[in-house]
Amino acid sequence: MDNFMPSVNEQQLLGLVDDFIQTASSRHSALEGVVGLLASNYRHFNWTGIYILDNGILKLGPYRGEPSPHVAIPVDNGICGTAVREGKTIVVPDVSADSRYLACSIRTKSEIVVPIFKDSKIVGEIDIDSDNLDAFKEVDQRILELVAKKLSGLF
Ligand code: SME
Repeated sequence: MDNFMPSVNEQQLLGLVDDFIQTASSRHSALEGVVGLLASNYRHFNWTGIYILDNGILKLGPYRGEPSPHVAIPVDNGICGTAVREGKTIVVPDVSADSRYLACSIRTKSEIVVPIFKDSKIVGEIDIDSDNLDAFKEVDQRILELVAKKLSGLF
């Protein structure tokens, strides 16, 4: 379980997200900061990125992890597109069993995609892949949805 031990607690993490949002010089640099924070705080987050929705295409913004071939995902594709179409967080415990999955790394075993809403419309997503099967639990979904709510202020 050591694998799941974060170095800052939830409240501290949310405070740091606020700091990035308030002090960064641009949306991009605030998102960079938040991606780095999430990736370094949770060891089961092996690829952590933000997609920005632009005219029906999810465009890759800041990320940590291996470069992804999926830098522009139409909303009718992938787990990422599914989260936009369904307007909710999608958790995939085993990507090998999900035909919607677009592969980024052969090591990825599970994924969570959390929409960022602005005025009830989706403007982007937090996308996280894990090398562990069934890595994303309710606690991860809750914190990521709180982070997404804060990121809404950048749009
Ligand atoms: N797996 C995603 C694509 C993005 S990569 O994981 C970075 C999907 O199925 O939409």
